[in-house]
Amino acid sequence: SDFDLVIRNARAVTASDIFLCDIGVRDGLIVQVGQSLGTGKCEIDAAGRYVTPGGVDGHCHLDQPHAEPIRMADDFDTGTLSAACGGTTTVIPFAAQAKGQSLRAAVDDYHKRAGGKARIDYAFHMIVSDPTPTVLHEELPALIQEGYTSFKIYMTYDDLKLDDGQILDVLSVAREYGAMCMVHAENADCIEWLTRKLEAAGRVAPRFHSHARPMLVEREATHRAIALSELVDVPILVVHVSGREAVEQIRWARGQGLNIYAETCPQYLFLTAEDLGIDDQYEGAKCVCSPPPRDKSNQQVIWNGLADGLFTVFSSDHAPYKYDDAAGKKPGGKEVAFRHIPNGIPGLETRMPLLWSEGVMAGRITPQRFVELTSTNAAKAYGLYPRKGTLSIGADADMVIWDERDLEIRNSMLHHAVDYTPYESMHLSAWPGVTLSRGEVIWDGSQASCPPGRGKFLTCDTPSLAPRKLMEI
Ligand code: URP
Ligand code: ZN
Ligand code: ZN
Ligand code: ZN
Repeated sequence: SDFDLVIRNARAVTASDIFLCDIGVRDGLIVQVGQSLGTGKCEIDAAGRYVTPGGVDGHCHLDQPHAEPIRMADDFDTGTLSAACGGTTTVIPFAAQAKGQSLRAAVDDYHKRAGGKARIDYAFHMIVSDPTPTVLHEELPALIQEGYTSFKIYMTYDDLKLDDGQILDVLSVAREYGAMCMVHAENADCIEWLTRKLEAAGRVAPRFHSHARPMLVEREATHRAIALSELVDVPILVVHVSGREAVEQIRWARGQGLNIYAETCPQYLFLTAEDLGIDDQYEGAKCVCSPPPRDKSNQQVIWNGLADGLFTVFSSDHAPYKYDDAAGKKPGGKEVAFRHIPNGIPGLETRMPLLWSEGVMAGRITPQRFVELTSTNAAKAYGLYPRKGTLSIGADADMVIWDERDLEIRNSMLHHAVDYTPYESMHLSAWPGVTLSRGEVIWDGSQASCPPGRGKFLTCDTPSLAPRKLMEI
């Protein structure tokens, strides 16, 4: 036969086009796209169903160590299994530097965590929390040149946050060596000041998490991150944008001609602050994440930004903590003040189906925009394009065939190791019917077949979303 695999009668979608075709795969790569292709050793009839590139989840947290008793539920095994069953074929989790740790040691540590466990292909972003002279002048440049071409920095969280001078220093390295810098933009001092006031008033239930992080906290930090990026003259990508005020800052920056990219996540489309509970209800701990979900009108602002091109990428920000775990949402097995609830919610498996169903099928975004947001732009932003993120000749044969079917999300059908989903009982009208990774069926709509260790580590090229500005020329 001519191919290892032929997908027949695909309604193929890229970031720019939709076309009916057959897709021929050999040695894990797409080698031909056309009509009436020759035979394959294996053939799948897509029967006119949509076929999109496999998802690239450019923001998820797996197996990051925490101080006792907090612990992440998903490692690279369960996390990547869950991703595959939801149509994601590449993940880019974080190799987080602890303060005092060398950046190289952090990267080596995460290779040990992922090796032999990952079921789908993966790369790493670094988290730079301690930009010492050695990190800035030796480790970071060397690691960027070795294929770790993106990193995240934090403006909040005591164990991670950088001050403005440190941010300028790391942005200068990003500019010089061509790396993409992701920024968690929230004003740490405002959060701490508000948290203390709330605690003094005895207001410590989960819902007060959102009171300690009003939108202005995100707006101010987003504006400051934009200013720092402008000063250094380097693009940044503002992660997990939650609502109107941060969106306004990003629109303003774009209007100035600045290369400010932005990410949003499912929680800002489908959750609101009310999901953090009423009164002293503790169940709301399940939806504690930062920035917090806002209100219905802000959900619409996020939908508008997805549709009109404001957002560059749509990621899960999967941060897996169990609710009923003495070491998870309830440290010590009891209800704790919101300050001590680990931030973040699970979402690797539901990211793609939520946006396909409620975005594409509900008519809010086009299929092409879906592909751009969930796959192509992440691959470009983090230096994996065109190997990942598109259906083109020579690309890895990573694909999703979409089934239109009626279902309700249940945590029991998901494959992560978290004991809840924030989207329990939500109604969807699609789910991946087949996920293919390098031409192999790794999810057939009911069963996964991707053993631990089959995922390959990907070194990243220079981000290609936009060239660095060529001011010197
Ligand atoms: O609440 C969140 N988003 N937790 C995950 C860590 C982060 O800041 O992305
Ligand atoms: Zn963050
Ligand atoms: Zn995150
Ligand atoms: Zn139904």
